[in-house]
Amino acid sequence: MILVTGGAGFIGSNFVLEWLQHGDERIVNVDKLTYAGNLQNLSSVKDDPRHIFVRGDIGDTQLISQLLTTYQPRAIINLAAESHVDRSIHGPEDFIQTNILGTFHLLEAARAYWMQLDQGAKGNFRFLHVSTDEVYGSLAPQAPAFTEIHNYQPNSPYSASKASSDHLVRAYHHTYGFPTLTTNCSNNYGPFQFPEKLIPLMICNALAEKNLPVYGDGLQIRDWLYVTDHCTAIRRVLAAGLPGETYNIGGWNEKTNLEIVQTICDLLTEIYPQRQFRQLITYVADRPGHDRRYAIDATKIKRELKWRPAETFATGIRKTIHWYIDNQQWTTDVQTGAYRQWIEKNYKQRTL
Ligand code: NAD
Ligand code: TYD
Repeated sequence: MILVTGGAGFIGSNFVLEWLQHGDERIVNVDKLTYAGNLQNLSSVKDDPRHIFVRGDIGDTQLISQLLTTYQPRAIINLAAESHVDRSIHGPEDFIQTNILGTFHLLEAARAYWMQLDQGAKGNFRFLHVSTDEVYGSLAPQAPAFTEIHNYQPNSPYSASKASSDHLVRAYHHTYGFPTLTTNCSNNYGPFQFPEKLIPLMICNALAEKNLPVYGDGLQIRDWLYVTDHCTAIRRVLAAGLPGETYNIGGWNEKTNLEIVQTICDLLTEIYPQRQFRQLITYVADRPGHDRRYAIDATKIKRELKWRPAETFATGIRKTIHWYIDNQQWTTDVQTGAYRQWIEKNYKQRTL
């Protein structure tokens, strides 16, 4: 059995679903169900005995210790986090609480559990920490992509909190010999992504004929990976990664934000030929401290673990657009009052 944290969020729920499609090993899924956690994402496994959902906080040592003792997992996959840069700018405290302190408490509970395992189980145990390329900071236009030895230079409260957690994970391996694995992945997109992030926000706004708010000049670059490819990479790292190592995960898909938004508009116009989505593009005030470019060099995971993405951006973005068109009830359901308040707060100062 494995224990997954944050398994009701975007990547977490895709990971749980993907995992259960590939084998019968059970999952205990601990998620606090913040605004970003949604049990609807897991409705297809609601009655599946291989999936046990527990509502809880990774910082709750008593709960985590109890779950570890009860279920005796062979691995922990830590996906729980506060994950949205704009929210971290408006209110960093939750990011410190979950991403730094939460990860620390989870590490402590996991280390105590690991220490009392017998030799065989101890040797096989893994703590896999899921992190981001944003910890490396921003790249100049022609600079080579981030490798695993790139210096950490986080620029937002979100990336600083993730960097902090990565350092704790590293220290637990170095100091205690705790068998950690860290992955640093580029921007994900795909089904079940909360529509506060660029791609789902643009698709949902376009479908609702609302403005498409591009920050600054829209020429910032991100490196995009379809979420299922991230999930297969995590499974691969868990199966074959070496304890103490970090692995960068990316899809070799650098694109400007403007290209992304225009592509979404053009694909939607293919589906709804009478509608001109590009007219909805609106330039708004930039994000403070906005990183200009991220790019992942995924050579290590490709060479050492033989992982490669299955989707290109062209195939992944089509699937994603169709998913949002086919699942408009999901979008309506996640757009609660709290979501509407966030949109009001984030975009009001940008004079949308
Ligand atoms: P998300 O915001 O969609 O989901 C996070 C999940 O964690 C939610 O279900 C939430 O309820 C849960 N959670 C939050 N605080 C918790 C706590 N204290 N205890 C237990 N559960 C808690 O995030 P995501 O996009 O799915 O990202 C998952 C992980 O992957 C994060 O660690 C993030 O930093 C990392 N990551 C994300 C991306 C991306 O593009 N989305 C890219 C690279 C890495
Ligand atoms: P986002 O999805 O928030 O991911 P991250 O900041 O973690 O990379 O944003 C991706 C890019 O899109 C980022 O450069 C900010 C930009 N962006 C916009 O231009 N408009 C928007 O409304 C949002 C949410 C993001």
